[in-house]
Amino acid sequence: MTLPTAGRRRKLSPRPTGPDWWLMLKKFVSHGTSIAAFSPSSRFLARSMVRGIDWAKARCVVELGAGTGPITRELVRAAPPHAKLVIVERDPDFCRVLRAKFPGQDVVEGDACRLDEILTHRRIAKADHVISGLPLPSFPPALRDSIIRMSARVLGPDGEFRQITNMPWVYLKLYRTYFQDVSFRLVPLNLPPGGVYFCRGYQPAA
Ligand SMILES: C[S@@+](CC[C@H](N)C(=O)[O-])C[C@H]1O[C@@H](n2cnc3c(N)ncnc32)[C@H](O)[C@@H]1O
Repeated sequence: MTLPTAGRRRKLSPRPTGPDWWLMLKKFVSHGTSIAAFSPSSRFLARSMVRGIDWAKARCVVELGAGTGPITRELVRAAPPHAKLVIVERDPDFCRVLRAKFPGQDVVEGDACRLDEILTHRRIAKADHVISGLPLPSFPPALRDSIIRMSARVLGPDGEFRQITNMPWVYLKLYRTYFQDVSFRLVPLNLPPGGVYFCRGYQPAA
């Protein structure tokens, strides 16, 4: 095990440069299933992920897997000052891009599996919405189960889980194994066409 030593600096990869789609494409080529998209979401898809959030009531909205931040941009635009955004992204290069684009926002370089710790650390008891840009269907089932269970735990019974997709309708059945109430909104203006699953009422697997 390598422990940090005094005076030794953490090695950072060079500051990511170039357009967002180029960074996303490079990450897709190098990391495959944990990225699972070769370009960032279109603004139409990003807006659809955020549309309909009741900002008068929402106190905390969590975004998982923010990437280069197309959904983050819409959240930051829409959220009133009383609503706290917690933006969770595992990849350090994406986190640096996010912090540069959205100064003052709470960008957490961390794993969605540890969402409860991330919120507890911020003294947040519950989230109103979890907005997931994670490629959940391409994750191993145990990892997917654990992220959905964790999201449901921080949401509580009234919260809503939203999941992005580039495979319209295909995963309706999958999300219905986790949630009692699942609907889908198609967003054709994305490459490839995508959409949003809206999920409520977590039901632990039988
Ligand atoms: C398909 S990209 C989505 C990017 C962005 N939301 C968009 O719509 O363009 C998935 C993102 O999830 C991140 N990710 C994958 N596994 C993660 C995990 N366990 N915790 C947090 N982020 C994760 C990846 O680094 C990547 O940025």
